[in-house]
Amino acid sequence: MQDLVLKSQGINKSFGGVHALTDMGFELRSGEVHALVGENGAGKSTYIKILSGVYHKDSGSNAYNGANVDFRTTIEARKAGIGMVPQIIELAPMLTVAENIYMGGYPSAKNGIVNWKELYRKAEETASIFGMEALVREPVGKLGAGYRQLVEILKALTYDTRIIAFDEPTAALSEDETRRLFELIRKLKAKGISIIYVSHRLDELFEIADRITVLKDGRVMGTRDIAAVTKDDIVSLMVGRDLNLYGEDSRKRGKTDEVALEVRDLKATGVHGVSFSVHKGEIVGCFGMVGSGRTETMMAIFGDSPLHGGEVLLKGRSVKIKSPFHAVRMGLGLVPENRIAQGVILIAPVKNNITLPFVGKLARKRGGFLDLRKERAIARQYIKALNLKTPDEDTQVSDLSGGNQQKVSIAKWLATRSDVIIFDEPTHGIDVGAKADIYRLLRELSDEGKGIILVSSELPEVLNVCDRILVFRDGKIVHEFTENRGLNEAEVVRFALG
Ligand SMILES: Nc1ncnc2c1ncn2[C@@H]1O[C@H](COP(=O)(O)OP(=O)(O)OP(=O)(O)O)[C@@H](O)[C@H]1O
Ligand SMILES: [Mg+2]
Repeated sequence: MQDLVLKSQGINKSFGGVHALTDMGFELRSGEVHALVGENGAGKSTYIKILSGVYHKDSGSNAYNGANVDFRTTIEARKAGIGMVPQIIELAPMLTVAENIYMGGYPSAKNGIVNWKELYRKAEETASIFGMEALVREPVGKLGAGYRQLVEILKALTYDTRIIAFDEPTAALSEDETRRLFELIRKLKAKGISIIYVSHRLDELFEIADRITVLKDGRVMGTRDIAAVTKDDIVSLMVGRDLNLYGEDSRKRGKTDEVALEVRDLKATGVHGVSFSVHKGEIVGCFGMVGSGRTETMMAIFGDSPLHGGEVLLKGRSVKIKSPFHAVRMGLGLVPENRIAQGVILIAPVKNNITLPFVGKLARKRGGFLDLRKERAIARQYIKALNLKTPDEDTQVSDLSGGNQQKVSIAKWLATRSDVIIFDEPTHGIDVGAKADIYRLLRELSDEGKGIILVSSELPEVLNVCDRILVFRDGKIVHEFTENRGLNEAEVVRFALG
């Protein structure tokens, strides 16, 4: 077929004993957005990495414009027109935006020395796509997560790109940045550029994709026109069963009158006087737009950013939390939004990551010797509870898929069993099956009498999981819904937008 830019056939890829891809086939038409979905560990990133020269297939073929290709490096793939926006940002933090965008292909003058003027001129031109001209001389490490993601996108567009693969591009983007990304994708499509789009946000697919291919355990379950499927169809292809995402309605079951955490008039960077309390046995939702001060509030409570004013009380006692380490000792836990950077140690095994916050406790009970059997048992328990896909508990976290790395960070705080646990966007990058598991575990924790804070930008999640909803805007709580039954989405969003 003439308009086929890519045809993959019989692709196999194993890592040790793990079959990441088995006999994978995939086709991409010119100017098409083809979504690739599947559970955490299904093989999506592996396929994209093979196409773009990061990994090498064990067997099979990739025909690109009719010719078989096998790129040795990402630079080779980019120069041939295949760009990739990786799931986990891989930019060099010390280098500027421009240096990162043109890495491996700096323009040079006749004498072979880098032509910096030309580099920055070209970078400004490319960066104007997202209105980021002014940032090209900034070191990437100084930018926020959203901007870094946009830099990865710009990097994928520097050569004459024919195919661009996005691996979870919106996980770190605000609504506004997401909208701009979709505009860009539509423009690319109009130019005949083809797009492979990986996302766990199924709603997005109906907005942006033409076709969808579902992977499960490294095998293709089917390819469909997006117009011919519903969200439920996709979920059951992905998970292999129907799914009751939010479980049975058990809100207000375990709530008690005892206050687990209270903050009074909290002030910190981006936080302008926040007061609220969390009872034992209750799940409090913090909803708001990106930048509304939710994450900043949580960081301040957790001792990760200095307080400019106000007070934190744990079980009615005023406390001064000096550091996250101190917070953990006082019975607070926090699953950070940026889990790969802040939540896991990539070069350590899964089991050590899970038991890290309470390793002292595990050791103390045995006179300073670590109870290795207990450590292994706890790790196994949470691997099972979260359906964490790993060969075993000794596997290094860096060998797991992106979503499974996230699950390790979540498992760690579930296992720590702090009195109050803050979950910041716990379901970002997590597949639907695991989402249901996480919601169930949040309920179990609250039923045990823990106080749970759920920070989320996903309204259905907040409405279905929480007992009470606090709406944040401009560093303040602008409204509290004490009862979320019968609330509609528009009502909550109205407060969040002001
Ligand atoms: N470098 C590696 N070493 C060992 N195993 C790996 C490596 N990369 C991936 N795997 C394994 O291959 C399988 C597929 O992983 P992949 O990253 O492709 O999943 P994914 O579909 O992108 O999942 P996610 O939604 O979590 O990002 C997983 O079981 C993963 O643990
Ligand atoms: Mg992935």
